[in-house]
Amino acid sequence: MIIPFQNKRIVLGVTGSIAVYKSVELASRLTQAGSLVDVILTHSASEFVTPLTFQSVTGQPAYTDNDLWGSQGHILHIGLAKDAQQMVIAPITANTIAKLAHGLADNLLTVTALAARCPILIAPAMDGGMYAHPATQANLETLKKRDATIIGPAEGHLASGMMGIGRMVEPGELLGHLRYQMSRRGPLRKKKIVVTAGGTFEPIDLVRGMTNRSSGKQGFAIAQAAIDHGADVILIAGKNHLPIPIGAEYYQVNTAEEMLAAVLDAIPHASALVMAAAVADFRPAIAAKEKIKKASGFTTLSLEVTTDILSAVAELKSKSGFPEITVGFAAESQNLLENAKQKLEAKKLDLIIANDISASDAGFEVDTNRVFLLDAGGGKEELPLMGKDEVARFVLERVIGLLGLARSDVF
Ligand code: CTP
Repeated sequence: MIIPFQNKRIVLGVTGSIAVYKSVELASRLTQAGSLVDVILTHSASEFVTPLTFQSVTGQPAYTDNDLWGSQGHILHIGLAKDAQQMVIAPITANTIAKLAHGLADNLLTVTALAARCPILIAPAMDGGMYAHPATQANLETLKKRDATIIGPAEGHLASGMMGIGRMVEPGELLGHLRYQMSRRGPLRKKKIVVTAGGTFEPIDLVRGMTNRSSGKQGFAIAQAAIDHGADVILIAGKNHLPIPIGAEYYQVNTAEEMLAAVLDAIPHASALVMAAAVADFRPAIAAKEKIKKASGFTTLSLEVTTDILSAVAELKSKSGFPEITVGFAAESQNLLENAKQKLEAKKLDLIIANDISASDAGFEVDTNRVFLLDAGGGKEELPLMGKDEVARFVLERVIGLLGLARSDVF
């Protein structure tokens, strides 16, 4: 289950392009993510793939123009349009783009699109020349002005055998855009949440440096969960190999000082700061501008202490009131709760997530975590071993509570 898709009703329109094979995967993934997917195929789409294919992955009837004249006849499209919380047409051909731009309603899909009032996302797929044609471009412009979200087309191998722009974007990417679009009415809508993730890197010389084992997975999961709940997320990350969550405003930094500057820049008017990053506590006192040679006899590294970002934030908050909520992490290999409580107080946090990094199934690099949540009011909650994305959900639920927002709010 993925929060923005949970119990949502989505109309997935499919038009005549070889890219229909990708929409079968999209329909399947949307269903697995918790949505009820009503598929409508145009006549040309059903030349490529049958309704049965979609029915098999959605567990729902898939409709064609035959249903427009069938038993439900004149009301089917109204029912589909009224119940839809999101409409997606993927792939959408140049022909259907032109129909939507001009308000034509000559088949079940276009008549439903005209009746629908929910947000619409379209993923064009066509030959490069058709896409570049001024008529298609003008039609897309018209749809954009009407607030349609247009994703793609991507560049690559086309059905014509040529290379160019015109491919429908991959289902995973489309799912990411939909996830973002459908999250916008969540309980954290219009709230700015700043999240830090990953480890910092402190240079020793031009090629070497000090870093740590943080993978960024927990911080990225928190950023994604905040987006899923509707927040405007600023994600500030150290070294990173993870995909950036769609919708995040992303800043890549190296050192603790750079992270400090980015955080201080981001927090005015922020509802919350979640510091999941593993920030270096020490850095080389001098970073050599050139590569230090082996023969130089360099064997001792002199270190100095970095600024504690959360303490700097606490100081700023006492003057500006932002961020409203501050959440920290405590990575401990001994005396977990004692040390976490001490950090909660010293850094003036509202909530701290304590994890025992000596366990092999929690903490660095792995996908799971086992944490305690301690809050400033003395509350303590122990969570069992779970995925980092689930931990992220718990953290977000607590942030929503601390901000005094109701979880069930609209959505
Ligand atoms: N943190 C920070 N600035 C630093 C170091 C850490 O803001 N220079 C934040 C981390 O992002 C985390 C919290 O402080 O949210 C606790 O980090 P942790 O490494 O567990 O503790 P430290 O304060 O660094 O103390 P120690 O390493 O001695 O346990």
